Amino acid sequence: MPKVTFRFEGQEITTEVAPGTNLLDAAQACGAREGHACGGVCACSTCHVYVVKGYASLSEASDREQDILDKAFDVKHHSRLGCQAEVLDEDVTVEISAESLQSWYDENPVERRARDERLKAEGRAVPGPARDLRKL
Ligand code: FES
Repeated sequence: MPKVTFRFEGQEITTEVAPGTNLLDAAQACGAREGHACGGVCACSTCHVYVVKGYASLSEASDREQDILDKAFDVKHHSRLGCQAEVLDEDVTVEISAESLQSWYDENPVERRARDERLKAEGRAVPGPARDLRKL
């Protein structure tokens, strides 16, 4: 079975998935922090990831996915929506975008408070909600 590796916040989590599993489902199964404000119905772009390795082992992006991806923050040529990109037969590595990570924290306030307190204690800036990234 192919493996999917998620990179975020300086860590990596790898999980095995059945072919046909989308990246968002893989992230949720292994605890990777990928946002999904619309619930995975290709309507929000908060599951935005950058494919680091294995782009050819993902299903082809539909016109709908590309339309929604156009609304994401900091889109790159190797961007995909996790809820739409299905893993085929080779290993894939993705980096969770800043927008998606912040969206995950917005969806998980207990973890967001803990992160914010840690950042404050370290004297670092605390990010605002994911929607604020679009104002930059
Ligand atoms: S979760 Fe909303 S577009 Fe993927």
